[in-house]
Amino acid sequence: MLLDTYGRTATDLRVSLTDRCNLRCTYCMPEEGLQWLGKPELLTDEEIVRLVRLAVTRLGITDVRFTGGEPLLRRGLVDLVRRCALLDPRPKLSLTTNGIGLARTATALAEAGLDRVNVSLDTLDAEVFHRLTRRDRHHDVLAGLAAARDAGLTPVKVNTVLMPGLNEDEAPALLAWALAEGYELRFIEQMPLDAQHGWKRSGMITAEDILTSLRTRFTLTPEPGAARGSAPAERWLVDGGPGSVGVIGSVTRPFCAACDRTRLTADGQIRTCLFATEETDLRALLRSGADDEAVAELWRAAMWGKKAGSGLDDPAFLQPSRPMSAIGG
Ligand code: GTP
Ligand code: 5AD
Ligand code: SF4
Repeated sequence: MLLDTYGRTATDLRVSLTDRCNLRCTYCMPEEGLQWLGKPELLTDEEIVRLVRLAVTRLGITDVRFTGGEPLLRRGLVDLVRRCALLDPRPKLSLTTNGIGLARTATALAEAGLDRVNVSLDTLDAEVFHRLTRRDRHHDVLAGLAAARDAGLTPVKVNTVLMPGLNEDEAPALLAWALAEGYELRFIEQMPLDAQHGWKRSGMITAEDILTSLRTRFTLTPEPGAARGSAPAERWLVDGGPGSVGVIGSVTRPFCAACDRTRLTADGQIRTCLFATEETDLRALLRSGADDEAVAELWRAAMWGKKAGSGLDDPAFLQPSRPMSAIGG
């Protein structure tokens, strides 16, 4: 088990498969991209499968999410999914992606054993999409979403970050669209995890702002029975249901007290939290020839030191040195 001193148990492993991305979302990274990890630094498929196996057999991990950067850029993804789906006990497998390329791979991913996907989409307007991501790929994302739904990678969740002056007015239209398409929409507060360190609390659209905007067009009531627990999203029924919408208030309504996550970066570092200031090097231990129990023990020790929360409200808060694209979203 992965326990910490605050009584939490991590059962959800987020594995970043690459720090690279084919978009350049302004809230994430600069136009020119970042200093990417080199091949020798990245965990191999073999190493990832070994770590996931050890996590499910020795550490009580039940859910594995592949993230990035953009995980669909990882060549062996379908095979990785297949190998993880064959593990005993079999973890639930999900993917967080920007959707580009999903139209081509959704069926193969589903056949390999992927259970569901979360797709990032911030706007319904192709021109706004281009401004926000600096790439003209709106159509690919919509096609990817539809393919995921058709391949049964459900529930398909859509993650939306609202930005002032860009897409902040789109919340009601996005919700109407998601309900019609059968996607579960979640709005996310922007967090200080951008490579440019440009985040300002005053420039963030808050959970409260989002709810106010949605209520101009819809009636929202808390979803009964959907205790938030360790889920980051608070869920609301729309116009009495059955459709619903989620709001992930990572900044103003943190869920740290119930956090059940542990993270593995693409270069084999354990992070206890998105906002952790330290990492634990599993890769070095793995490559020194250590056995599974020694690796598991280092992972347990790392998680034991997990901090109570993100520290966002602490006046001395320092943004982590790695951006979200390198940590894993
Ligand atoms: P499911 O609800 O199981 O589908 O997963 P999820 O919502 O955790 O996954 P996803 O990768 O789609 O993450 C969506 C958003 O949740 C991210 O963009 C973050 O804003 C937020 N999030 C994910 N992990 C963490 C975390 O460890 N801490 C905080 N504060 N926010 C997180
Ligand atoms: N704050 C909040 N969400 C972010 N994402 C990327 N960067 C940030 C940020 N700074 C979102 C992506 C994706 C999810 C994994 O994280 O849009 O939906
Ligand atoms: Fe890529 Fe995700 Fe960052 Fe956008 S937010 S540039 S999709 S890693």
